[in-house]
Amino acid sequence: MRANLGKPRRVFGRNFLIQDKTRAQREQQGKRVKRSGIASIAAAFVGLAALSGPSVANAADDSVSAPMVTNEDGSKMQKGAVSKDGKWTLPDGSPTYHVKEDFTLDWYSYSGFRRYHSECHVCHGPEGEGSTYAPGLVKSLKTMSYTDFLGVVASGRIRNEAGTEFVMPALGDNKNVMCYIDDMYVYLKARADGAMPRGRPPGRDDKPQAAKDYDKQCLGE
Ligand code: HEC
Repeated sequence: MRANLGKPRRVFGRNFLIQDKTRAQREQQGKRVKRSGIASIAAAFVGLAALSGPSVANAADDSVSAPMVTNEDGSKMQKGAVSKDGKWTLPDGSPTYHVKEDFTLDWYSYSGFRRYHSECHVCHGPEGEGSTYAPGLVKSLKTMSYTDFLGVVASGRIRNEAGTEFVMPALGDNKNVMCYIDDMYVYLKARADGAMPRGRPPGRDDKPQAAKDYDKQCLGE
């Protein structure tokens, strides 16, 4: 993983080249009802994020307000989290993590660890710690809601600072990202809450059948 760190410039270069396309994509957000499935789900979240204004922590949002708790068996989760078929969610439906005392992760958080390192790490740094180019998402998720997170990932963002453009690409059409966006979110959220330390997770739960079915459906295989 760390070996990739030597090569970010090339990746940034490619992203600068696709910038016009990215801009066009962003302008079209909202009007886009192109495909059913993940793209429209992403568009719906973008709409939601737009309605709720800039990325400010919303106290009514469980993903932000539910504190981390330690259960009697030593496992950690957000308060009020429940599991269905191995997937943990909060009462408002936002996804969350479950980390056992020995730091064994639920399947989805583990999947998020892997997906983050293949899709985001090159810009956002190993383990969500940030880089000179992009913010540390472990820090961002201490205050950013799940909905705002989805909105930024799907629609992207460009910041111009003294002539340098910092580009968060719009990834709403990328199935390898959007099919696993909950996974990446829960992994980063577990890190943000301090439920798991840095480093490769020592173990994970088995992949639930529900996750296998979902893969097929979402990736259209
Ligand atoms: C090409 C580099 C690049 C890649 C790849 C990338 N990002 Fe970003 N991302 C950025 C930059 C740069 C920003 C900051 C933009 C700004 O300053 O407004 C950002 C911002 C964000 C933010 C907002 C953070 C905050 O504190 O406001 C989130 C959330 C985010 N990215 C998630 C992701 C996820 C998840 C992935 C992987 C699926 C990813 N990004 C992949 C460059 C990237």
